[in-house]
Amino acid sequence: MEKIEWNEGFSVGVRKLDEQHKVLIDMINKMIEMQNITVDSEVVSEVLNKMTEYANFHFNTEENLLKEHGYPEYEAHKAMHKVFRKKTVAFCMDTMVHKKSIPEEIVSYLKDWLTHHILTEDMRYKPFFKEKGVW
Ligand SMILES: [Fe+2]
Repeated sequence: MEKIEWNEGFSVGVRKLDEQHKVLIDMINKMIEMQNITVDSEVVSEVLNKMTEYANFHFNTEENLLKEHGYPEYEAHKAMHKVFRKKTVAFCMDTMVHKKSIPEEIVSYLKDWLTHHILTEDMRYKPFFKEKGVW
């Protein structure tokens, strides 16, 4: 599976959020790498757990910023994060039962969701923050 490569096209114009997106991308890339090697099941669930934790932290940062500035699509955006939050918790449960690699469908879901979310959904708030002078 190809890794995600961050480029300017991923920039939402707010430095803090870009940095957090990069961390998330790195974490998913790590999982893509792990698919090719046999690792301890504990390592697998640790990586996934960390990513889930970080995703929650990032969503909170993003949601707070959107709310603070009165983003009109705040509720809808938050709802999209919620779907991902739920999914990743379920994935964590799955991998806790001794898997030696992260199933491809999980990695593929995480990769596709995040890429689509940043490039399509997060991009919608880019002009909003720009207008508000948030960068
Ligand atoms: Fe988002």
